[in-house]
Amino acid sequence: MLREAVARGVNHIDTSDFYGPHVTNEIIREALHPYPDDLVIVTKIGAKRGADASWNPAFSTEDLTSAVHDNLRNLGVDALDVVNLRIMFDVHGPAEGSIAEPLAVLAELQRQGLVRRIGLSNVTARQIAEGRTIAPIVCVQNQYNLAHRADDGLIDALAAAGTAYVPFIPLGGFSPLQSSALTEIAEGLGATPMQVALAWLLRRSPNILLIPGTSSVGHLRENVAAAQLSLPDDAMARLDRIAGPPASA
Ligand SMILES: NC(=O)c1ccc[n+]([C@@H]2O[C@H](COP(=O)([O-])OP(=O)(O)OC[C@H]3O[C@@H](n4cnc5c(N)ncnc54)[C@H](OP(=O)(O)O)[C@@H]3O)[C@@H](O)[C@H]2O)c1
Repeated sequence: MLREAVARGVNHIDTSDFYGPHVTNEIIREALHPYPDDLVIVTKIGAKRGADASWNPAFSTEDLTSAVHDNLRNLGVDALDVVNLRIMFDVHGPAEGSIAEPLAVLAELQRQGLVRRIGLSNVTARQIAEGRTIAPIVCVQNQYNLAHRADDGLIDALAAAGTAYVPFIPLGGFSPLQSSALTEIAEGLGATPMQVALAWLLRRSPNILLIPGTSSVGHLRENVAAAQLSLPDDAMARLDRIAGPPASA
């Protein structure tokens, strides 16, 4: 499936060595190494899996350094294209707290040439501002989709700053997005609901990059084709109403 993705023009893959752990990176390496020149592999550090499969914060200098080395070894590269620091004050969503210490460790690994670019994941606007005082931040990866729009304002601010925004769980993850509007719009366009959900994200803002997860070649093809789907204004307006009014309204 990874080879099919690259053959279809996908040049951005999201991973982490803590997925598995190790297995996801091992599969990427086995399928794609040596990597095409234009392929950007984005990984993330900041968590460790427990023996009970729990997700635990891992922000000591030792944890962060070994996480970078695990990614280098298992992906089979000398430097990582982009490393997201995945913040864990609250595992399930952004929560305030200083990110200065762990980000300084990652910035040092960047100075050593092990990391090309730095991003942040599961963060607030304040943490991004703090992060920018420590290292250039090229991308932000937070949860966002048609039904989960807490980051609307943040996305616009990042677009104005030229920073990429990468919504995770773009299709709803384990609870796939479902809405009658989504289904009806998809039927009207001869597309699938998931294609419409992805096309909506692409039209939502020019700084959005997509990382839909799939284990199916059929879904991969469908998802790649969503980039060609153009949503009329009335469909956009209806899709915009799925999440309800903005929190401040
Ligand atoms: N930074 C973070 O904290 C964080 C957290 C979670 C996820 N992520 C990242 O976000 C990315 C995507 O997240 P995700 O995979 O959890 O959620 P997702 O992309 O929202 O959803 C994936 C689910 O959608 C299904 N799917 C995909 N394409 C489909 C299609 N065309 N039609 C119907 N179903 C479809 C998949 O099933 P099939 O396998 O059957 O296609 C899978 O069950 C991953 O790269 C992951 O690394 C990051």
